[in-house]
Amino acid sequence: MKVLGICGSPRKGANTEFALNFTLNSLKELGFDTEAILLSEKEVNFCNHCGKCLEGKECPIKDNAKEIFEKMLVADAIIIASPVYYVGITAQIKALFDRSIMVRGKLKGKVGGAIAVGQARNGGQEIVCDQIHQWMLSHEMRLASMRFGGMLIGSMKDFEAVKRDEAGLNSCKNLAKKIAEALQSK
Ligand SMILES: Cc1cc2nc3c(=O)[nH]c(=O)nc-3n(C[C@H](O)[C@H](O)[C@H](O)COP(=O)(O)O)c2cc1C
Repeated sequence: MKVLGICGSPRKGANTEFALNFTLNSLKELGFDTEAILLSEKEVNFCNHCGKCLEGKECPIKDNAKEIFEKMLVADAIIIASPVYYVGITAQIKALFDRSIMVRGKLKGKVGGAIAVGQARNGGQEIVCDQIHQWMLSHEMRLASMRFGGMLIGSMKDFEAVKRDEAGLNSCKNLAKKIAEALQSK
């Protein structure tokens, strides 16, 4: 079974990417296939509500969104990892969420999990996990049975801050365990 992780930080090699890879590595150790997509390496433009996908036609915006959704369609579980930006998900993740209207009805039943990284201990990680969960519920995905998800303390300046956040890393390990349990109970 395959777990796809998507990192919504615009910074390559920073805290959110580490937290996602840490979680995916835990899942790999549990025997799952994993893959990470970094939005820092992709172009995903805004949905402009042109209505083409609602008519069953292909999205006319030429960027990387379609290839990302193709990977989501074959994954059994999807983890969305976002930095906290002004107590919410990043614009990169929001753009991807809005474009997912092109796969409406097709993510149903997939297992979902959330990771949030903020500079402050209580900087909005819960709200970011909740935003991610709401998107997953809109697609009728099955949430890993955890109230929030992986929640970590990163840093604006230090790309490696999450590596010292023991409680945050434990929450990622717990998320991996809950995703594995949900996949095995399928
Ligand atoms: C525009 C912007 C807004 C931010 N807002 C918050 C916030 O509301 N709460 C918080 O805890 N951290 C906030 N941060 C800090 C980031 O969440 C933190 O630097 C995090 O480590 C970024 O993830 P990254 O290291 O993977 O890029 C903000 C950073 C930026 C650039």
